[in-house]
Amino acid sequence: MTEPVGRTSRGEPRVERTAQLTPRTTHHLVAYDPASSERAPAPASLRLRAARVLEENWTGSSTVPSRQLYPHQWSWDSAFIAIGLRHLSPLRAQTELETLLAAQWADGRIPHIVFNPSVPLDAYFPSPDFWRSSTAGRAAGAPRTVQTSGIVQPPVHALAAWLVHEADPGLSRSRGFLARLYPRLAAWHRYLLHRRDLGGGGLVSVVHPWEQGMDNSPCWDRPLSRVTPAPARSFRRADLAHGAPEDRPTDLDYGRYVRLAADYRDRGYRDEPDASRGPGAGDFAVEDPSFNALLIASEHALARIARELGAAASARHARAERLTAALVDRLWDPAAGMFLCRDVPGGRLLPERGVSGLVPLLLPTLPHDLAATLVRTLSGPHFGLGGTTRMVPSYDLLGEAFDPHRYWRGPAWFNTGWLIERGLRQHGEQGRAAALRRAMLRIADTSGFAEYVDPYTGEACGATGFGWTAALTLDLLHGRPGWDRHGVTATKGGDRG
Ligand code: SER
Repeated sequence: MTEPVGRTSRGEPRVERTAQLTPRTTHHLVAYDPASSERAPAPASLRLRAARVLEENWTGSSTVPSRQLYPHQWSWDSAFIAIGLRHLSPLRAQTELETLLAAQWADGRIPHIVFNPSVPLDAYFPSPDFWRSSTAGRAAGAPRTVQTSGIVQPPVHALAAWLVHEADPGLSRSRGFLARLYPRLAAWHRYLLHRRDLGGGGLVSVVHPWEQGMDNSPCWDRPLSRVTPAPARSFRRADLAHGAPEDRPTDLDYGRYVRLAADYRDRGYRDEPDASRGPGAGDFAVEDPSFNALLIASEHALARIARELGAAASARHARAERLTAALVDRLWDPAAGMFLCRDVPGGRLLPERGVSGLVPLLLPTLPHDLAATLVRTLSGPHFGLGGTTRMVPSYDLLGEAFDPHRYWRGPAWFNTGWLIERGLRQHGEQGRAAALRRAMLRIADTSGFAEYVDPYTGEACGATGFGWTAALTLDLLHGRPGWDRHGVTATKGGDRG
């Protein structure tokens, strides 16, 4: 499970980048100790370098997550990137979201990848000729002029659109930014709420691990075990040319991802329940806490957007509250002290503890006792924040499957850290939030804006010069705002600091 201190998972000697490490073998409940918090790096130079990453990854109409590993536009990456980009160029941040939403399907889905036609087909797998959106997705309303994937990613977009608007309301109003985006964002949420409630309990299901975004999380191991992998010879991975195989999902994982995506494509990307197969669109259907929490946060933001446009907002806030109640009812596990994923075909909660189950801390109207329990779980032996870990691990430190370097099976990621920092502030944990923010800034700096990092040491994994790491660094460098009870900025321009 874990390798000895001083060695990486690849067996190489570990280069320690900090003198403040707590031995990783000490798993105990830790009290928050402000004296142990890290010093943030010099803001001016960090800002400059983060801006340079976003400049290098900018294509003219959107930002790639990474020039080598992910050379197209990714849906939730773009939302997080826009949140940081608004501090550099509100116009570019608006354009980022507009480009993504121009590829929306007529049924409302926002595809997880929008392909850049000037990038060679073999630069990324699965490429446009695998997804065949304009033909296989025709009945679902895929656009004809741009090639996309046919699955989705977490709905961070309305939240991002509101934050981008707030960065320069004058520019936003003069360009009709929110007025143009609002119907598209509303259609996106309608698609999720009406077509993806596969469990029938009011929450959205994902039908592929790539949709939830934490591709190879051990949370998916059980539901994925039902999926017959596509034969290895039937596809060729492009990711291994740019990332260490030990940091990436395995070939077996990929075989299953390919099978699920190909089956969905071959059904014309239809979501209607198939009578012969039971509930859900296919073999994999999971209600995930992070995906649904982001929808709730975005629904509150959409209410704010509606009010800005002079439309009624109360129905949206009410829907967000109903979704919050469903989230607690269906996914809260008191014994684990956190939210868990629900396997829809199996009809039960999955016992694995992933960072996804902490993300609902982001929700301002989460019952106080649940928020307090989430903070305890975050700082306890399973996630170790403020004690054994420097950033929030993506998976249970004590889990059998924990691996500090392999993609979503343990490493810490900056987008989940940003969401949890927001949640901590939301629930009055200013000290813990400040400590996490400082650690993230320091690790973004020393890791070269890594895609993800070893949660104990901050050692870089995956790609460097990663889009959302740079963007969220810029956001963290700005002052932290106060919010209203719906989790959107309460002070005018407050999110800009
Ligand atoms: N995250 C996936 C990849 O690694 C796809 O979205 O390519």
